[in-house]
Amino acid sequence: MPDCDSKIGKSIEYLTFFAVLTRLHAIMSTSTTPKVNIEQLASLCKRRGFIFQGSELYGGINGFWDYGPLGVELKRNIKDAWWRDTVQRRSDVVGLDAAIIMHPRVWEASGHLEGFSDPMVDCKTCKGRFRADQLESTSCPQKPSKLVGACGGDLTEAREFNLMFQTFVGPVRDDSSVAYLRPETAQGIFAQFDNVLSVSRQKVPFGIAQIGKAFRNEINPRNYTFRSREFEQMELEFFIKPGTDADWHEYWVQARMDWYTSIGIAPEHLDKYVYGSDELAHYASACVDIMYQFPFGLQELEGIAARGNFDLSRHSEFSGKKLEYFDQESNERFIPHVVEPSAGVDRIALAVLCEAYQVEWIPKEGTGGDVREAVPGEKMPDGYEERTVMRFAPTVAPIKAAIFPLLKNRPELVQTAQDLYASLQQRWPVFYDQTGAIGRRYRRQDEVGTPFGITVDFETLENQTVTWRERDSMAQERIPIAEVADRLAAALA
Ligand code: GAP
Repeated sequence: MPDCDSKIGKSIEYLTFFAVLTRLHAIMSTSTTPKVNIEQLASLCKRRGFIFQGSELYGGINGFWDYGPLGVELKRNIKDAWWRDTVQRRSDVVGLDAAIIMHPRVWEASGHLEGFSDPMVDCKTCKGRFRADQLESTSCPQKPSKLVGACGGDLTEAREFNLMFQTFVGPVRDDSSVAYLRPETAQGIFAQFDNVLSVSRQKVPFGIAQIGKAFRNEINPRNYTFRSREFEQMELEFFIKPGTDADWHEYWVQARMDWYTSIGIAPEHLDKYVYGSDELAHYASACVDIMYQFPFGLQELEGIAARGNFDLSRHSEFSGKKLEYFDQESNERFIPHVVEPSAGVDRIALAVLCEAYQVEWIPKEGTGGDVREAVPGEKMPDGYEERTVMRFAPTVAPIKAAIFPLLKNRPELVQTAQDLYASLQQRWPVFYDQTGAIGRRYRRQDEVGTPFGITVDFETLENQTVTWRERDSMAQERIPIAEVADRLAAALA
């Protein structure tokens, strides 16, 4: 339930002018400068198979993205890391995979049917439709140097636009068969609270976690994949005893901040936005957004809200079924409160891509000098060459290691390299490449963020050692071929 984001909570209780100013200040006051140009990143993502425009063959469809061979691995690694840390390594959280389409009454109970909307204006001049609350950052499609409204276009009054995608269930298309693609995964968890509680032998406090697709018919999808119409969420509903809300909220904010650094996001690129009491939905007692310094500004990755017992109470009211918990220790019956950390997979993937992307100038072999970060608009110094490197943390890197025979026309090198590749492939996504000069092969892997390169050369045939190359430092060392798997396992632990 999006009480943290600009959806239901805020459309019910509009932000005060002061709250907007406070928020703007928090967003503008960051000192960290984004190092990546989003157009260059998008170009690399397309060229190397991370992200493609959805339906590109037919001219594309706005707000929908496809993840290519490397993108799908990256996203899977992010989801696996979240699932491992949020579910599998804890004994107080269990998982769920609920259907995308749910009974339409769910969305009445949750408040989405009534209030899940953004304010929209039409431009009578250019026929464009825009978010009324984002006019100050939206360029006019006809005159891109001007903002919508300032371009002289004739705008209508703002009106509310519900973001849920509608569909019909079964062969008859009438009011009785209307259903919705879920705009968040959370409601599936609330609706199955009782079933999960009865089968999982969990006691409050405990959580139910889910990863899955969500759909929002955003008025203006923008900033690459940041605001899409189809995206994935990773949501945890952590059910707690009333009165423990503040402590658990604090716990989860810290746990989630730590998780971002564990997947390679630098702490100085993260920030927290703490909601003021005048910004909270009426049922929430606290809300914090975890923000990342994207190239287009400081923006939300995840919201962590203390939502009281609003959701379970509403589903109880609308379904007519009691959704309560009996605490044997205190002999009390109550509707649990909930703390909800709610993250977007696509936004995290975009943050991980931004964080990893680096263009460097490196001294050509034998010329000496230090590696320098490339400065956009400046000429590269003589004796240097450019390297683009994706510095993914090994746990999220799509390919964990690349295996190269030094020369492709030496069968004994090729055979040894292929044997090593085949054995590592049983445990990790690894890549084999025998084409081109070894330096170019290293560069190709740097550009897709492969943390380690392993080269089989003539010395391998003599003493069973290989060259182990580290992507970030480009340092090389010789290690026994028998130690390669252990090295990799240690780096990925
Ligand atoms: N159940 C709470 C909820 O859905 P939200 O703030 O609306 O809260 C949670 O969404 C997270 O889902 C956001 O922090 C963001 O990462 C992701 N998200 C929301 N709308 C999105 C969109 N249009 N495109 C991509 N990610 C989105």
